[in-house]
Amino acid sequence: MSRITGIRCWALQDQRQSLILAAQGTDLAEIIYWGPRLPDGTDLEMLVAAARMDVTGGMLDAVPPLSICPEARRTFPGQPGLSLTDSTGKALLPRFAFDRAEEGDLSLILHYHDADNGLHYQAGFALTPTTGMIRAQASLASEQPISVNWLSAPVFPGPQNSHEMIDFHGRWIGEFQTSRTPWSAGARLRDNPTGRTGHEYFPGLIVPCTGATNSQGSAYAFHYGWSGGHKMLAEELPDGRRQIQWGHATGSRRTPGIKFETAPLYAVFSDQGINGCAVAFQRHMRDEILQPPAPARPRPVHYNCWEAVYFDHDHATLCDIASRAAALGAERFVLDDGWFGKRDDDTSSLGDWTIDARKYPDGLMPLIDHVHAEGMTFGIWFEPEMINPDSDLFQTHPDWVMGDPDQVLGRQQMVLNIALPEVQAYLYERISAGLSDHPIDYVKWDHNRVLPEPDSAQAEAIYALFDRLRAGFPSVEFESCSSGGGRIDFGILSRTHRVWLSDSNDPLERLRIQHEAALFLPMVVTGSHVGPRQCHTSGRITDIRLRAWVAAQRHMGFEMDPRELTVDEAKVLRDVTNWWKDNRHWTERADILRLDSDDPTVIAELQRAEDGSRFVAFAGLSETSAQILPRPLRLTGLDADATYDIRLLNRDDAPGLSRGSPLLKTETAPLSGQYMMHQGITLPWTFPQSIWVIEGTRL
Ligand code: GLA
Repeated sequence: MSRITGIRCWALQDQRQSLILAAQGTDLAEIIYWGPRLPDGTDLEMLVAAARMDVTGGMLDAVPPLSICPEARRTFPGQPGLSLTDSTGKALLPRFAFDRAEEGDLSLILHYHDADNGLHYQAGFALTPTTGMIRAQASLASEQPISVNWLSAPVFPGPQNSHEMIDFHGRWIGEFQTSRTPWSAGARLRDNPTGRTGHEYFPGLIVPCTGATNSQGSAYAFHYGWSGGHKMLAEELPDGRRQIQWGHATGSRRTPGIKFETAPLYAVFSDQGINGCAVAFQRHMRDEILQPPAPARPRPVHYNCWEAVYFDHDHATLCDIASRAAALGAERFVLDDGWFGKRDDDTSSLGDWTIDARKYPDGLMPLIDHVHAEGMTFGIWFEPEMINPDSDLFQTHPDWVMGDPDQVLGRQQMVLNIALPEVQAYLYERISAGLSDHPIDYVKWDHNRVLPEPDSAQAEAIYALFDRLRAGFPSVEFESCSSGGGRIDFGILSRTHRVWLSDSNDPLERLRIQHEAALFLPMVVTGSHVGPRQCHTSGRITDIRLRAWVAAQRHMGFEMDPRELTVDEAKVLRDVTNWWKDNRHWTERADILRLDSDDPTVIAELQRAEDGSRFVAFAGLSETSAQILPRPLRLTGLDADATYDIRLLNRDDAPGLSRGSPLLKTETAPLSGQYMMHQGITLPWTFPQSIWVIEGTRL
């Protein structure tokens, strides 16, 4: 048997997985295994030997390694992990040699250098066993200033037992749409030029292995935690191997320098279906990324006045609305856009962060006092990174704007160059004055247009501004909004506490968006509001029951004008809100498991308590089913041997056309986990555009 000599091997392992890296001699390491945990005592060198590939006609005499940073000068048959030029514009083709490894129990940092080009490359891996998440990050240091066109985070191999990959696109009011692309020779490239995370480019990828579903099989998933726009490359090489690269978008590192770093790449393996990846992301996001405000507190029910009044702020009306919202159960009142400058519509005043004395002659305190008297806290909207040409700020500082003076505007606005220290100082002063002068516990931070050109310095600068504000105001919560879900990623979420998932308050659209977003986001950060009876963005009229329960799936709030509610609607909303409050102590830490619905019109999920003692499942019927009766709803993630008391919480919502007597229409049924996961539960017939809510308690 010929073993390979001069091999270095490293292993990162937890209960669920092993990640094995190996390198020949001083070469860059390669991930040679990533999957279910290998038996203790596995001979890693044997794995290297066993995985050695053949060569045949028409090939080189050896197969170039698919390393953590494939090098162009080593005849690698795919895209390299780096693209650099020196100060004269000449391409640099590094060849790295091993320096040293820093090995911890659950971490590994590999150091390499290229003496000829004066370059130092570093790749770090850290495994969090409580969530199963691997965090991988690469950095590059140069002895001379260089330009980095591309620097990939450590490169992961893609599984060959996979037919397709799933990534994400979307648009305003249509976030988190999935694209399923079959693997084939060549590359799938997502390269985001917008300078922000974007509705169009959520930086996530799921690679299900053949046969995987939400609830079974193996799957891999990735997320690049960066708010400045990413590039993803998923490539099948001519020899069949697959590589997955992530980094900052092409052209976004605009200035030469001597130190460069990728954002963290979050990578997870699951042998429990795609849900295993989703739960790892949800838990990691909630427990490792999120920096809760101090002191931590339960999520309050929001009331946001945007769709009630838009820019039309009138003290008496806002007070009336606030009182009604409080009576419905709201715990925080959010004053949205329109309180500053002379902002009567979206054409002016961004940048002029002073209270509009026409609308608030005595300042904001009278409204805040009223909100407090109703038992709610007060939150406020800002869009700090933006400026309207029609603003005082623009008159004084046209030089603070990014891009050309004659650029195309977006929502009548331009972007401030936050990387300029004077702009940072101005914004910090304005926002901190607002937060110091008023009892504000929450800021909805908006970002309503793309950058005129991608520039990673902008995202770095916004992180710095957030870090400063968080340090100065540790009890204030921030929400990341960007025309809805245009800036959702682990980079911004390590500085904020909630995302405004979408400007669509249409519960049918929201049901789908929430379902897909749960692949990465836990309940606790995902804002969801009960909108007006007739949705302002879709025109659709929906029942309050659907609107309320869809909002209750996540961090609940209201955004309609409460004066439009009928007595019945107000009662339903109060009841659902009370349910949400009564349950948030466990739903805030629940795992969201997407159900493999056997009816394509049903979007369903199960939220399982951390200790497995209870769950709530939601089955939303988005349109009329093809068959006449509902198919059984198969649950997942339960203890097969346990019995659960199953109650159809909203069984009274069954319409008159449900004429039969399925048990759950009248009874609480004790059913085994095995039965519900294999056979499924039998629900009553109902109207399209409605939702069943099923509670389960382990006996
Ligand atoms: C964006 C947000 C909305 C609202 C408006 C205010 O569109 O996504 O929720 O705050 O701005 O102008």
